[in-house]
Amino acid sequence: MVSCKTTPTPKKKGRDKPLVIKPVVKKPVKTPAMIKPLMVKEFSPSMSRIAFHLFHREEETSKEDAFNDIRKRCDTILKAAQRLEGLPALKANDTPLFRAEAKGLLRQVKALKDAAFNQNQEQTVHWYWHVQESCNNCHSQFRGY
Ligand code: HEC
Repeated sequence: MVSCKTTPTPKKKGRDKPLVIKPVVKKPVKTPAMIKPLMVKEFSPSMSRIAFHLFHREEETSKEDAFNDIRKRCDTILKAAQRLEGLPALKANDTPLFRAEAKGLLRQVKALKDAAFNQNQEQTVHWYWHVQESCNNCHSQFRGY
């Protein structure tokens, strides 16, 4: 298993953030139309299910079933991330950076899947936050909102 000692700090919910009114400097980037469906149909529901298993598991779901489902969701994310990595440029100059972000996501999800394979709750939570961090890293550069 990949080893790593720092768990990323979970993002605070909106209302805990200090209210800072900043001028909007980011221009929305023009994104290929197929990105959004990947986000909405593949990434987002998979991450929600994984979080559910890790943080709100119901009594009737066994630990084994929960971890098996986490691995399945990781496969969904991996497949979608591979498609994302092969996409043409968002903005021509940013292509390598965009690919690097998609690659970063792939790496973190693989580690998450390994941790789930070992049914290691602590490690699975740890890599879950790394995956979340990868989502956020790409969004902060390419989402434009
Ligand atoms: C390599 C870059 C990249 C990575 C990694 C990435 N995203 Fe996105 N995401 C985008 C871009 C670009 C958009 C904006 C798409 C658009 O507006 O057409 C977006 C938009 C979204 C949206 C909003 C869709 C909407 O309806 O406006 C959600 C939700 C989302 N991503 C979830 C995720 C999750 C969850 C992950 C991690 C598992 C993730 N994303 C990882 C680039 C990325």
